[in-house]
Amino acid sequence: MSIRNKSFTSVDNLSDEDIKTIFHRADVFKKLGAEKKSFKQAFSLNTEQDLNALLVFIEPSTRTRISFEMACNNLGIHPVLFSDVQGSSIVKGESLEETFRTLKFLNPSLIILRYKGSPFQFDDTVPVVNGGFGSYEHPTQALIDVFTIQSAQEKAQGRNVLILGDVLHSRVSNSNLKLLKRLGAEVAFCSPSSLFPKDDLWKGIKCFENINEGLKWADVVMCLRIQQERHDISIGLSLAEYRDQYHLGAEQLKFLKESAVILHPGPCIFGVEMSMDVLKDSRSFISAQVTNGVFIRSAVLSLVLDFKWTFD
Ligand code: CP
Repeated sequence: MSIRNKSFTSVDNLSDEDIKTIFHRADVFKKLGAEKKSFKQAFSLNTEQDLNALLVFIEPSTRTRISFEMACNNLGIHPVLFSDVQGSSIVKGESLEETFRTLKFLNPSLIILRYKGSPFQFDDTVPVVNGGFGSYEHPTQALIDVFTIQSAQEKAQGRNVLILGDVLHSRVSNSNLKLLKRLGAEVAFCSPSSLFPKDDLWKGIKCFENINEGLKWADVVMCLRIQQERHDISIGLSLAEYRDQYHLGAEQLKFLKESAVILHPGPCIFGVEMSMDVLKDSRSFISAQVTNGVFIRSAVLSLVLDFKWTFD
């Protein structure tokens, strides 16, 4: 099991060695970025081959799409974007599966895919990287989150991580649960009962009914957006009621340890999940998550395309 020359659709695809390699490469890219140096000096490029990445983004995105595009540019991979569904043959009735099959015949070096559905089967003729699949998984976001935790708290092992909010619809929390457990962290969640996760993955995971109790326990609090676009039925409470019980603001921050780390994968609806004050709190690493996106996604692409690493 490894993502070298293979599709990367789930945290389950990563070997332990892959995880170590991605964090190491992301560290190197972070240092090179801080020194305003080219990422290309970390590996030797095969100049006989032009590399291109097809970014198929048929669900909205800001951070993931732009950071993957920047990662491609930093690594010498040409990014080609497919996001204009209304301008594509999908509006003429072509199915998503057929569109995808067609795009593969263009022979990109890899495809980065964000879409609403559950994963359909991918062979490895063209590696596919998950850029966020519906409510299934978002593995590169989990790598970013753990990298950010480790840069603040040295290691994820032994840390208590509280996931707060709409866990039921969150691909980010599914990938984080898998990755954090593998790295020896303790995970718990706090959300309205209508947004409790249903997947077997979450069986036996600790649940806090009261946000303040969860915050006292946590070394890391990971807030999630309320994904109203995925709510088929009412969640049983209004946004105002949700805010009263699950909002992270100045009052709730008093319960959080001084050494804690606050995360949000974004996009964040300020005034609902958290107040703007949280961004100014020294425990907030939300901006660092965005910045780390380029380093982690560069590391992931360099591994999937099996770049010859020369920096060690
Ligand atoms: N975290 C995340 O996936 O953000 P975007 O939807 O902006 O890509």
